[in-house]
Amino acid sequence: MSMFTPKMVSLTWNHNGFHHRQSKFSKPHARKPTLPKAPSSTLRTPKTYSLPPEKIEVFKSLEGWASQCILPLVKPVEQSWHPVDFLPDSSLPVEDFNNKVRDLRDRTAELPDDYLVVLVGDMITEEALPTYQTRLNQLHGVADKTGSCTSPWAVWSRAWTAEENRHGDLLHTYLYLSGRVDMRMIDRTIHYLIAAGMQWDIDKNPYMGFVYTSFQERATFISHGNTARLAKKNGDPVLARICGTISADEKRHENAYVKIVEKLLEVDPTETMVAISNMMRKGITMPALLMQDGKDPHLFDHFSAVAQRLGVYTAADYADILEFLIQRWKLEKIQDLTTEGRRAQDFVCGLAPRIRRLQERADERARKTEPHSVKFSWIFNKEVSLI
Ligand SMILES: [Fe+2]
Ligand SMILES: [Fe+2]
Repeated sequence: MSMFTPKMVSLTWNHNGFHHRQSKFSKPHARKPTLPKAPSSTLRTPKTYSLPPEKIEVFKSLEGWASQCILPLVKPVEQSWHPVDFLPDSSLPVEDFNNKVRDLRDRTAELPDDYLVVLVGDMITEEALPTYQTRLNQLHGVADKTGSCTSPWAVWSRAWTAEENRHGDLLHTYLYLSGRVDMRMIDRTIHYLIAAGMQWDIDKNPYMGFVYTSFQERATFISHGNTARLAKKNGDPVLARICGTISADEKRHENAYVKIVEKLLEVDPTETMVAISNMMRKGITMPALLMQDGKDPHLFDHFSAVAQRLGVYTAADYADILEFLIQRWKLEKIQDLTTEGRRAQDFVCGLAPRIRRLQERADERARKTEPHSVKFSWIFNKEVSLI
């Protein structure tokens, strides 16, 4: 799971169009970007996203397919990487271990502060995994009812959790050994975030759930890929390998969730199209949105702004992901839709250009805004430029 919304794509769609979350550093008189209103018939926000029992049966009927097509995307434990593969081996004699730690510190000594802020924010997001597993396990028809349920949906969700668990563990330990970051403030932020939970207001709708996870896994694939690229550029090839390996996991997870939605489009096109539309209308709010460190009340926005500035995860990526999914799921070509399904299709297929236009306006405003810096507790209150 992922990640964060870059500042410029803190967009949600409601009855009145796009809303742009204004943060403290936004220009005070900047006009809120608004887009032409979609026809009112497409703007209906349901009161509830819960599904009737026959829809939940769809997931029961797909169990054989999921066993055949989704479970093979899990890697067997013996073939999986583990954090120790990338970290100084603590079973070495103490001198050798110390030398390995010294090498790590030499490699990370020159990593820029803004890069560290983004890497820490990514790591914190990964560390809130208990929240994501809890929420995934609430989805109708795919939940792990006993904690050790043998349905392929439950097997997948536990295996996914086990794979994801390594991401936060590895980045946390690597950053700890680097000595470059304030682990007390980082651990406080993780503590706050897990205690706060996440905003994933989709009821228990598995259709919307899998649309969200498809989007999110691709977002993390992109952002970890970019932190890998920047680690290499900044002289740490081991960190580049770490971020690249995590990014490859996210890609595999993306493939699984994208395949599930593809199958749902095949067996239940209207419900799935409406779920995609509802999810995009709500906006893909990022799982770490509620992060705080007890110091900066706009921590998430500030972290997102730095990620945007470094090009790790940007508003353009948000629109790119949407366009990728529209193509991957062939949404423009889907037929056999009810009137409601066709309205949802029109809305989703026309959304990416709207987001891009909104982004151009936001870019224009950002260019006119004075550079603004904030202090991040994660790096001992050093200042980092946001714009
Ligand atoms: Fe993930
Ligand atoms: Fe992850």
